[in-house]
Amino acid sequence: MSYGGGIITLLMGPISFFKKIRNQHRRNFYLRFSTKKSLNEASVFERSLLLQYHALEKNLYQKVPISKARTETLTKQLSYGIEKGFITSNSGVYRIGQDYLKMLSLNKTEHKGEFSVGIHVFEKTDFLSKNGNALLISRHSVRETSDAEIAPAILFSAFSAAAKAPSACDRQPCRIIYSLSNSGNQKIKNYVPDRPTIQKMKYALLVVCDRGLFSDAEDLQDYVNGGIFVYSLSLSLLSAGLVNCIFQCPLPTNASSAMRKDLGIREQENAIAFIGFGYPSDSIVVFNSPRLPIEDISRKID
Ligand SMILES: Cc1cc2nc3c(=O)[nH]c(=O)nc-3n(C[C@H](O)[C@H](O)[C@H](O)COP(=O)(O)O)c2cc1C
Repeated sequence: MSYGGGIITLLMGPISFFKKIRNQHRRNFYLRFSTKKSLNEASVFERSLLLQYHALEKNLYQKVPISKARTETLTKQLSYGIEKGFITSNSGVYRIGQDYLKMLSLNKTEHKGEFSVGIHVFEKTDFLSKNGNALLISRHSVRETSDAEIAPAILFSAFSAAAKAPSACDRQPCRIIYSLSNSGNQKIKNYVPDRPTIQKMKYALLVVCDRGLFSDAEDLQDYVNGGIFVYSLSLSLLSAGLVNCIFQCPLPTNASSAMRKDLGIREQENAIAFIGFGYPSDSIVVFNSPRLPIEDISRKID
């Protein structure tokens, strides 16, 4: 064996030891969610309901007839969820199910928006460009805001636009933890690793994603879906005139029991990222971050 080869072999031991510890740490973090089935029962129930809605959505789209048995199962499943206390008649997932049942009982599938569910038929012109690129291109992370207060209605309209984000099988797994009070916002800001920066922003929120809505085989889907939601929210805030910046929530912060307790993060939820936001001050300073050229960010295959 060469001298260099010997050193590499010597180093391999400690490296694989540290990798093992790191992987164990990561695995423990994820297992906390997947093995505690009792804690996840409500999420697992909600998951099966949402997957059923998605199957209905797809079948209707592909014009597959919906069997009577399927609607009966859905009726039974909704009552079971209420009986077990997983959902109430006020829960969003319950109301979507009722809308499906109502629409199917009227033997309707395609319509022009009379139901919240089913196949909506649009005109071609409805899908023509709304110039979303202008919003994407003019976007910057803004790290300082004015002290102006945001009316709840403005914030909620941004939240509901953000909820249009696509999600795997339409499971809509993300939740926004926010506050309208100074003390509540400070509580959130205290957990942002880049605290000096977020301190200059009036508001802060945290996006969390419910891991219980994904099976064990769908590991990390919470991060994929969460990231898409975070960006959707960042853009919808901007569209409402609220400048913002996304902030990291790395693994040690995510696993912090103090943060989870203080911000009411549920056992099966994974914290994805913080967003600092608010109305812009009179003069806005941003880092200008040039993007890589197209040939660097894309690769064509034949
Ligand atoms: C997941 C994520 C985490 C980020 N974390 C931070 C952060 O902790 N502090 C910060 O100042 N900016 C943070 N940013 C903002 C990035 O620095 C910023 O998007 C990048 O520099 C590009 O600049 P631009 O958004 O103005 O185009 C984060 C962005 C993302 C997407």
